[in-house]
Amino acid sequence: MSDQTFFIETWGCQMNDLDTQRLSGNLKLRGWTRVDDESEASLILLNTCSIRDKAEQKVFSRLGELRELKSRNDVRIGVAGCVAQQEGDRILKRAPWVDFVMGPGNVGHLDEVLEGKRVATDFPEDRRYDYLTMDRPSATKAQVTIIEGCNKNCTFCIVPTTRGREVSRPFDDVVAEVRAAIDSGRVEIELLGQTVNAYRCPITGRDFGALLSAVAEVPGVLRLRFMTSHPAEVNDSMIAAMRDHRNISRYLHLPVQSGSSRVLRRMKRLYSREKYLEVMARIREAIPEIHFSTDIIVGFPGETEEDFQETISLIEEVGYGSLFAFKYSPRPGTPSLKIGEPVDDAIASDRLTRIFEAHERIKRERLDSYRGKVLPVLYDGPSRNDPSMMTGRTDDNWVVNFSGDPAIPLGSLIGVRIDHAQHHTLRGEAVT
Ligand code: SAH
Ligand code: F3S
Repeated sequence: MSDQTFFIETWGCQMNDLDTQRLSGNLKLRGWTRVDDESEASLILLNTCSIRDKAEQKVFSRLGELRELKSRNDVRIGVAGCVAQQEGDRILKRAPWVDFVMGPGNVGHLDEVLEGKRVATDFPEDRRYDYLTMDRPSATKAQVTIIEGCNKNCTFCIVPTTRGREVSRPFDDVVAEVRAAIDSGRVEIELLGQTVNAYRCPITGRDFGALLSAVAEVPGVLRLRFMTSHPAEVNDSMIAAMRDHRNISRYLHLPVQSGSSRVLRRMKRLYSREKYLEVMARIREAIPEIHFSTDIIVGFPGETEEDFQETISLIEEVGYGSLFAFKYSPRPGTPSLKIGEPVDDAIASDRLTRIFEAHERIKRERLDSYRGKVLPVLYDGPSRNDPSMMTGRTDDNWVVNFSGDPAIPLGSLIGVRIDHAQHHTLRGEAVT
């Protein structure tokens, strides 16, 4: 066993994926080799998520498995990510075979941890960001963080605790990273942040719309995406940037959480049902072909059947193409714990099912509407389930599996005629 091999396991959201890319790139730069088998590693990193469910228990049970490995091999074990931030040195107490814990604020400070720091859960002023060493898993797409942390403090959410206060990266740094990603052969850029559209350049004050336009205008950017927007931060400059740049994806994930203004107030979402619908109408007026997507929480403390009916009616009114729904999960230390008990679990499960049923018909209608059309698809590799098929995404972010000439270079925009819609995806044939 070489003494400089590492294994990383990643849970959770795109921010965690990106943190893994940064950690991995940093280690490789120092001469470490990444391995896919944990038993071959001299360093094991668990990059953890605590957004819902029994996240902490999952991590401890995984650590239980690794304890055995540690008794056989000379291996260091580190816990990174949001559970590390949330639990801090409690992890070292409960699982003393863990060598260090490091939170999301310390991804750029891995060197201190490797030199022996055991608990790194602060949010350093100096957030080092070495984008040139990022270990990007995709040959066609680069994800770029533009803002870290979140200042919104929704009452159910652990993210403000685990990822800290908002810090935007300088505008010119972001554009330089995008240029470097394009120079390395990538054609698709995805800008990331917990509230990506709260972006403000710390030096010039330029906003998210200005950054979107600047990135869309970097030569070679075939497609530009971004995640996740907050409804209260949508402004005219963002809408105009999307309308005016055809390479900005016609897809907008705009989490609503609930259709009831009463619940939204208790969640501290900073908008009412009416305000949200008004924002959606403004966007749709500017970009009629937009594919809207959302997140919904059912069973928030005090949610009544009437509140829930308002969520169903909002889903129908907006006509979301995609939707993600979750049962409320009480998170340690969040203000929602004081609002009351979660809704009875059986009722929450039933509401979740009814959400998916209501959405199914809307999604089908949208998917069926593409049949017979020729859509530009950004080709990004063989299809996961059937490697004889090619796969890619449309402008409005639907996955398309299609037949065509596999000699076409990855990252090409290909015209694909859509034959039919599957459960979540489209199928077709390349025509160009
Ligand atoms: N702005 C973030 C939101 C993070 S969490 C982003 O980048 O997506 C993603 C989704 O998880 C939220 O929109 C919400 O619907 C859900 N969620 C967050 N906390 C939750 C909790 N305590 N219980 C259930 N779902 C939760
Ligand atoms: Fe969480 Fe609300 Fe921010 S959902 S990430 S506190 S916008």
